[in-house]
Amino acid sequence: MKFLSLAVLALPSVFAAALPNTVSGDNLAKRSGGGALRTCTNAGAVLKGKDIYVEAFCSDGHGGSPLASVDVNTCIANDNGNLHWRKNGGFSGSCTIDLATGVQSNGYLIARCRKDNGSTVITGIYLNDHLVNRNGKLACEV
Ligand SMILES: *[C@@H]1O[C@H](CO)[C@@H](O)[C@H](O)[C@H]1NC(C)=O
Repeated sequence: MKFLSLAVLALPSVFAAALPNTVSGDNLAKRSGGGALRTCTNAGAVLKGKDIYVEAFCSDGHGGSPLASVDVNTCIANDNGNLHWRKNGGFSGSCTIDLATGVQSNGYLIARCRKDNGSTVITGIYLNDHLVNRNGKLACEV
């Protein structure tokens, strides 16, 4: 129930992010790896608690495209201002994201991340490299 209400609350931000950021297959097909967003539309970033999630409408392979959500805080790490894929990465603890523009049309996630010396940098990572769509559910594969 808690998850459901969070998902509903998150919807407006998905739509707000959708206009300039509609994910198109052509851009995304150039990346190999997990490739999840090739079969999703309207990818955007949302905050749930302090964790950064990625949400999109993802094909379930049976004609449906349910809203899918994945806690990318569990698989992306901030290493001194550079984002890397890593299990339990926890990047949300030292990065912030612009919910409207944080996921670009090519699946590039952009965040402002703290470096070891306390300054912050804008950095990013290609979500398609390790996000997968499993029958309409998004997951990290790291
Ligand atoms: C942190 O390091 C960067 C270079 O990597 C430098 O440009 C910046 O000024 C430093 N910030 C502080 C607060 O020392």
